[in-house]
Amino acid sequence: MNGRVAVITGAGRGIGREEALFFAARGARVVVNDPGVAADGSGGDPAVAQRVVEEIRAAGGQAVASTADVADWAGARSVVESALEAFGDLDIVVNNAAVERNRALVTMTEDDFDSVVAVKLRGGFAVSHWAARHWADSGLVRDRAIVNTASGSGLTNPLPGQTNYASANAAVAAMTQVHALELGRYGVRVNCLSPSMVRTRLTETVPGELTSPAAIAPVAAYLASESCPLNGQVLSVRGSVVTVLRGWAAGERVESGGTVEGLAAAMAEVKVTDPAEVLAAALQGALGIDGAQALRRMIDAALG
Ligand SMILES: NC(=O)c1ccc[n+]([C@@H]2O[C@H](COP(=O)([O-])OP(=O)(O)OC[C@H]3O[C@@H](n4cnc5c(N)ncnc54)[C@H](O)[C@@H]3O)[C@@H](O)[C@H]2O)c1
Repeated sequence: MNGRVAVITGAGRGIGREEALFFAARGARVVVNDPGVAADGSGGDPAVAQRVVEEIRAAGGQAVASTADVADWAGARSVVESALEAFGDLDIVVNNAAVERNRALVTMTEDDFDSVVAVKLRGGFAVSHWAARHWADSGLVRDRAIVNTASGSGLTNPLPGQTNYASANAAVAAMTQVHALELGRYGVRVNCLSPSMVRTRLTETVPGELTSPAAIAPVAAYLASESCPLNGQVLSVRGSVVTVLRGWAAGERVESGGTVEGLAAAMAEVKVTDPAEVLAAALQGALGIDGAQALRRMIDAALG
């Protein structure tokens, strides 16, 4: 990390804050981006990013604050410009910012959907776009890295109440692979981590033993380091256990004969996966039987 310049979005709290402290402690110069909004994206507090900057400086590290909103096109550009102005270059982008507005499909508003997708998906796209523009314009090909952040919600746990958040996270994994293929020519590797059950304000009400947000930072640092060979990968992280996720894969193949009846007959022979079973297994794996049941009760009660 020595001397490398990193932008970390949503770095004022939770997982992003730990990443910023970890990167800076290893010699990275860090742009701590965070407008300090509430968990649903409302409000804002510039002191949130500044506090992390002060913590880094007090420990002898180098950091500057950015309070820009990554969901805003010009805001995303200004995050990249903050790195160039303060440190003269940019090597690493960690797209970590997110907000949540959980609601059942029947009550989710247009704004609930748009605001969650705008931070997680469009924000990651926008910051990566402006970083990639800088790298392409610089004409220099050397190792740089983008680390995106997805979630089990959207990849492995189809959580009810999260149409917006799950869709955005699934799309972040898809975007990671597209960017990994596009940016190789500039020496940029693009990977994604997917934190699992980490205790932050987003998981305040989730029952059971959740892991520390500090567990995610070494994985982000690994993916961002020059010696990391990975490109286009998604790693799920639970404490010190890291699982390579493989995404949608082809399953059984049938011949339909081009008719509805032919397809119906062929599909009758196929054992398809019930999303309720996928969710139950994923939650049980992460929280144990009691924790999984408690979370299910909580989700069902919230959805009414
Ligand atoms: N906590 C978990 O168990 C968990 C699980 C899976 C994925 N994640 C992902 O990890 C990441 C960090 O989550 P967390 O749990 O630390 O949440 P958090 O709420 O503690 O931190 C997220 C930070 O992002 C900031 N932010 C929100 N909107 C922003 C915007 N428009 N521009 C810039 N910053 C913005 C917030 O102010 C906040 O400080 C998110 O991408 C989340 O989806 C977390």
